[in-house]
Amino acid sequence: MKPMDAHLPSPSAHTGSPRPFITLSGISKTFPDSSKGSDGAVEALRSISFSFPRNSFISIVGHSGCGKSTLLRIVSGLETASFGLIEIDGMSPTEFSKDRPFGFVFQDAALLPWKTTLENVRLPLDILNIETPAIRDRRAREMLELVHLNGFEDRYPAHLSGGMRQRASIARSLCYRPDVLLMDEPFGALDDFTRREMGDELLRIYAQRQATVLFVTHSLSEAVLLSDFVVVLLPRPGRVEKIIPIELERPRGSAVRSSSKFRAYVAELEALIFGEGS
Ligand SMILES: Nc1ncnc2c1ncn2[C@@H]1O[C@H](COP(=O)(O)OP(=O)(O)OP(=O)(O)O)[C@@H](O)[C@H]1O
Ligand SMILES: [Mg+2]
Repeated sequence: MKPMDAHLPSPSAHTGSPRPFITLSGISKTFPDSSKGSDGAVEALRSISFSFPRNSFISIVGHSGCGKSTLLRIVSGLETASFGLIEIDGMSPTEFSKDRPFGFVFQDAALLPWKTTLENVRLPLDILNIETPAIRDRRAREMLELVHLNGFEDRYPAHLSGGMRQRASIARSLCYRPDVLLMDEPFGALDDFTRREMGDELLRIYAQRQATVLFVTHSLSEAVLLSDFVVVLLPRPGRVEKIIPIELERPRGSAVRSSSKFRAYVAELEALIFGEGS
């Protein structure tokens, strides 16, 4: 992974290799604000530009309301930008996702309570009618094994812990082998201990099954642990303050957290977000 490929304003400015996989050029988003009458508007994002190579793990951090979720929704094509251009593998998000659906993991695991863990994980494959039922079943079981949930296939979500539900939701998002995985505070609802465990789990899963990941988090240490690049957004309107390449060798283990380099990255992010001397 070459950090020099990060935060290029446009593909034309890109001369090195590998070539960019995901590029945002001048993305801006303004929402109408009905509380301020017909002229009101909320400028959620202003001129967001960056470019990252395939299989990068990119974290997006910043204060509440700085536009992180909006940015993810724009990348996924669920929301359209007011201005700017987005390219994923040379295509618009809508074009790209026709053949290669995005994987999504949200803060709330959003499993269907009336389906078992296995059925929940298999659901996207069933909806997309991928291969045969037997193959779908096998793939879902493989993913459950990857997230260490084998043995829990027949449990219903109500009988899983919060961390297990979140792992099931990660398995569900991975089972159709997405090239792009969008994760919006996936561990936000978990206690600190489980959250840390889940960070280690995701590190392990990412090492085994690479994808280009856009990961929104409020935990700066989680961002450093997992990422190749951390995008720091400033609020009102959301704009890029800095993109920090995380040059910690992979594979990374939980122990990396105690290294001085790791702590220096976390301190740098804290200073950027909360101000010097925080
Ligand atoms: N559909 C919408 N209509 C109007 N305003 C919106 C809409 N979605 C987001 N906004 C506004 O855009 C800004 C960015 O919101 P967004 O949800 O992207 O922030 P965020 O960084 O994800 O915040 P948090 O960390 O709290 O999840 C906020 O001011 C929000 O009120
Ligand atoms: Mg959000």
